[in-house]
Amino acid sequence: MAATARKARATVTRGTRAAWLEAAVRVPIDAAERVGALLVEAGSHGVVTGVRELARGARIRRHETVRGFFPAGDAVRARLAVRAALNRNVDPTLRRAPIAWRELDARLWEMDWREHFQPVVAGRSLVVVPPWNRERFGTRRRIVIHPGMAFGTGQHATTLSCLETLERLASPPPARALDVGTGTGILAIALAKLGVRVVLAVDTDPQAIAAARANVRRNGVARRVRLSSVVLDARTAAHRYPLVVANLYVDVLVALEPTLAGLVTPGGALVTSGVLRAQQARLRRAFASPRWRLARALRRGAWVTSVFTRET
Ligand SMILES: C[S@@+](CC[C@H](N)C(=O)[O-])C[C@H]1O[C@@H](n2cnc3c(N)ncnc32)[C@H](O)[C@@H]1O
Repeated sequence: MAATARKARATVTRGTRAAWLEAAVRVPIDAAERVGALLVEAGSHGVVTGVRELARGARIRRHETVRGFFPAGDAVRARLAVRAALNRNVDPTLRRAPIAWRELDARLWEMDWREHFQPVVAGRSLVVVPPWNRERFGTRRRIVIHPGMAFGTGQHATTLSCLETLERLASPPPARALDVGTGTGILAIALAKLGVRVVLAVDTDPQAIAAARANVRRNGVARRVRLSSVVLDARTAAHRYPLVVANLYVDVLVALEPTLAGLVTPGGALVTSGVLRAQQARLRRAFASPRWRLARALRRGAWVTSVFTRET
């Protein structure tokens, strides 16, 4: 999620159960993108950068506050993961960076989101909008997303690059497609709206599946998109897919390589994302077997989105 909004005012209302935990990390401006990536790797469902400095009307910004959002039910894990992600960094400024934590209840978090969630125009034919947006975008297909407890509003570079890549690969649309790590369901919904008749969308996080289910209904594509939290297994899968997208994290992609190889139809395409530039060599090593060919690598900010074709 991008940020051009006013200062967020959210705090926890007394007696209201917190839904989200916000980690705010103030860092030198040139480190902001890296820190955003670290927060996502640590499990953040979205990242907002620079809001507070803009709010103060700063003309020359030397620092930025990067904010990440974690489900409040997982507070201990989130705190450990964020600290560990910063500590792993070679840059001592980031290792020492203070983290301000606060809790947000669902209502205030939504108010905060309403300020930040602007429509995202993707490729030539798609636009991602929040449910409260009524603007018209010509003939673009609207993908209506409420973020719920899941990642994927189109504002993050990896999601946007996946949308653009899928738009190209789904022309003409294949009969079926698989979305691994669906989050809000955004990519699965886009595939359905691009004309794919059967989309299987999986996620290991049940909260993501619940958010995706609501979004799938909102978009009127429930007959095309099937959601599942079953862990993928190529041996028991009912189908292979000519188009698979996996916007995950490098560790997960590397571990899933043999499974993905069994799920992509020979001649089909696998889109991977969630990989930082510095991690791309590792991804390529994991997909170095002759069964894969790297057809394309698209850089956006700190991230790389790749298209591998299944050769044999
Ligand atoms: C970075 S989000 C991507 C969300 C959305 N597809 C997008 O492009 O914005 C990654 C999602 O993958 C899910 N995930 C992580 N490991 C997974 C695995 N092994 N299998 C399926 N889903 C996984 C997470 O729960 C999370 O919802």
